[in-house]
Amino acid sequence: MFLQNLRLYNFKNHPEASLTFENSIICLLGKNGSGKTNLLDAIYYLSFTKSAHNPYDAQNIRHGENSFLIKGIFEVQHRQKELVCSYQAGEKKVIREDDQECTRFSEHVGKFPVVLIAPQDIELIWDGSEFRRRFFDSLISQLDKRYLENLIVYNHQLKQRNSLLRTSGEGVKMDLILLESYDQKLVETGNYIHQKRKEVLTTFLPRFRDHYQFLVGESAEVADIEYKSDLASNEFSDLLKRNAQRDQVLQRTTSGIHRDDFLFLLNKLELKRVGSQGQQKSFLVGLKLAEFQLLAEQKGFKPILLLDDIFDKLDNYRIHQLIKLVSQGTFGQLFITDARSGRSEQILSEAGIKAQMFLLENKTFHSQWPEA
Ligand SMILES: Nc1ncnc2c1ncn2[C@@H]1O[C@H](COP(=O)(O)OP(=O)(O)OP(=O)(O)O)[C@@H](O)[C@H]1O
Ligand SMILES: [Mg+2]
Repeated sequence: MFLQNLRLYNFKNHPEASLTFENSIICLLGKNGSGKTNLLDAIYYLSFTKSAHNPYDAQNIRHGENSFLIKGIFEVQHRQKELVCSYQAGEKKVIREDDQECTRFSEHVGKFPVVLIAPQDIELIWDGSEFRRRFFDSLISQLDKRYLENLIVYNHQLKQRNSLLRTSGEGVKMDLILLESYDQKLVETGNYIHQKRKEVLTTFLPRFRDHYQFLVGESAEVADIEYKSDLASNEFSDLLKRNAQRDQVLQRTTSGIHRDDFLFLLNKLELKRVGSQGQQKSFLVGLKLAEFQLLAEQKGFKPILLLDDIFDKLDNYRIHQLIKLVSQGTFGQLFITDARSGRSEQILSEAGIKAQMFLLENKTFHSQWPEA
């Protein structure tokens, strides 16, 4: 997949921009706060119909304006496609593919796959289980439309069930028929989600381990992921029944796939506790490269890879290994941001990689090619 042209109107700090990409490797350079990450986020929007950083569309409109528009011309499997994502404050967000409005965003996700590696990924390691679930949910949703549909239904039913548990406390009798109908839908969708998470992790893991090993080289670090779920050794329907009383007391659903976790392990110990910053970053890069590979295999073409500030925290050896993958053509189109322009230029030119450079200055992009 190749992004040929990107246009932005009032998206975050960019009033108006048009960039034409003529190369697989694109470097976005510019000072802190110049808008490099925002530009990657615009590409992310076209793929996922939302920002990677700010879930509120309204906050992604340039301050003082009332709408934004992102337009991308892509080449996907030898066909040109135009994607537009526009949002006006107070209105519904619109995604159009070749002028056809997309009515269900779950249908769109996965069609234009993008993998982003960004500094905030560290939350996958440091924060609660919902961040790890979100990573796998996003990956699986791109592979399987039914997964996202099931997830939407599950989350909706869970909300309803929790609200029933909250309202039927002291004095108010529980509507058991309603409870049972929620449970039935939770079981149906929950089992599907559990099964898919298990399945995808099985194919994901060997790819992840290979990438991690490649990145870290000879060192004896063993990275692993373990899927933990209430449903691993229990029937979901039994769990709901067995815990019904406790759920009523606590006024929330205490078992189900919304409590699943994926444990990140380094040498069998929790990565969060034992991993250095560089080891944690390597783990994250390994996760994303495995995601990239799985998507590429299943789609039959390569996703766009967005590398935001990737060179920070990786040592020279690991940077070298990553760049080796780039020069071997492992990836398709690739966007790299860096506030220290000299560093990226040097790393790429040492590896003999020709990149198209954009320098962001005063909200304007200057395209430049490095001297031969
Ligand atoms: N809705 C918005 N309207 C105007 N400006 C915004 C909006 N949202 C974010 N910004 C601004 O965009 C700027 C940040 O841009 P971005 O994060 O893309 O910078 P960057 O070039 O990636 O910087 P760094 O090198 O520090 O990562 C911030 O100054 C932020 O305040
Ligand atoms: Mg940035």
